[in-house]
Amino acid sequence: MQDACAPEIEKDARSTAEAREKRVFIKTFGCQMNVYDSERMADALGAAGFVETGAPEDADLVILNTCHIREKAAEKVFSELGRLRVLREARRQNDGGNLMIAVAGCVAQAEGEEIARRATVDIIVGPQSYHRLPELIERRVGTRGPVIETEFPAAEKFASLPAPKLRAAPSAFLTVQEGCDKFCTFCVVPYTRGAEYSRPVAQIVEEAKRLAERGVREITLLGQNVNAWAGEGPSGKIWTLPDLLAALSAVDGIARLRFTTSHPNDMSDALIAAHRDLPKLMPYLHLPFQSGSDRILKAMNRKHRMDDYLRILDRLRDARPDLALSTDIIVGFPGETDADFEETMRMVERVHFAQAYSFKYSPRPGTPAADRAEQVPEDVKSERLARLQALLFAQQTAFNAAMVGRTLSVLWESRGRNEGQVVGRSPYLQPVYADGDPALIGHIADVEIAGASQNSLRAVIKNLDVYAT
Ligand code: 5AD
Ligand code: SF4
Repeated sequence: MQDACAPEIEKDARSTAEAREKRVFIKTFGCQMNVYDSERMADALGAAGFVETGAPEDADLVILNTCHIREKAAEKVFSELGRLRVLREARRQNDGGNLMIAVAGCVAQAEGEEIARRATVDIIVGPQSYHRLPELIERRVGTRGPVIETEFPAAEKFASLPAPKLRAAPSAFLTVQEGCDKFCTFCVVPYTRGAEYSRPVAQIVEEAKRLAERGVREITLLGQNVNAWAGEGPSGKIWTLPDLLAALSAVDGIARLRFTTSHPNDMSDALIAAHRDLPKLMPYLHLPFQSGSDRILKAMNRKHRMDDYLRILDRLRDARPDLALSTDIIVGFPGETDADFEETMRMVERVHFAQAYSFKYSPRPGTPAADRAEQVPEDVKSERLARLQALLFAQQTAFNAAMVGRTLSVLWESRGRNEGQVVGRSPYLQPVYADGDPALIGHIADVEIAGASQNSLRAVIKNLDVYAT
């Protein structure tokens, strides 16, 4: 297809290089790994002379870093592209300038051709190729149609990204593992992120040290299957996640460690023991169970039964009695009966989750479950989700209410919305608000919890002088 905007891009790229620095606006959809990826895209572009801007109106390049996990998430991208087209037209009419538009992430990977057909975008780049963005921008300037790059070189990506830039937040994500070999029948991840890849120990420890030098106190290790991480250790020996957590515990300045997301089948004895033995590993675990029915779990290809999950929880709670649990649950998977759903409800009643994410099943193109005949009607899914969420919210509220009167250590992360307020996180990942000095940000302080709601805690800081470092 003839692309009318290529000559303008050429002109604009030259004039912006001469006139002022180039600006990039990145909008992130979806999971924490996308948040991490967006920061790394900014780092890669920073090395090529771009600075970040908080407003698309101000940008030379807009990147949508997209999510394909459910239909709604993917649809948002096309409506956002519609808005950007209007912005690009307005700019062209106002001053003849151009706006370059890139779609990155999992929608780019899964629906690259479709995006190229339906929208006028300049660059389509998959989650394993974004380190090549500067080169793709160059390539776009010299071509007519959009540049599409959706290869899977995960190792090359990590090796070629620049070191993470200084960012103000004391809590940071660090991707250690990407992709998935599990092929749950509802899930697009094995197709969009590719096969499992674990970064080597040396690279991860180096990145953690750099983060610590820049004031980071808490690191959350990320991976689609993070507890399956198996990376090359210093002497070529393969390490597993508990080894890595022990090594990261020894990094100066790092006071807290977390990891997400885990699969029940990769919850090894050693990883369970790490929850007992590593004081820096926070007492919070996100462990999706997806459905309380063994029949549905089998159809989902989850390869675990509910009994297995409960046994793992028993062992985890033996290792760390105050462990707070979070999970993912899908309702309305094809073939799910009322009885199957009741088993999911019973499971939640039995476990008591501190937090949970629950979703209506969303058929994803190319996944096995999408083609199954027994799709559950939308109104049944909605009714089940409403019942489930009422129970989960009640559990979350009760979990938070039980904190009132207790003393918790809080890592203060940012200023609150109100003047004189600071916001941080408890060990159990609850947001905590207090009136306090912004000088607290980056510090961990013991505080008394004075109030609780469904989503957060309120604390009283009694003695500003005694906060720990
Ligand atoms: N429909 C609904 N929820 C899904 N998830 C993944 N794929 C789908 C889908 N097709 C949920 C799972 C997973 C979480 C990240 O998203 O619960 O754990
Ligand atoms: Fe998707 Fe997680 Fe299953 Fe992998 S283990 S296919 S990422 S739901």
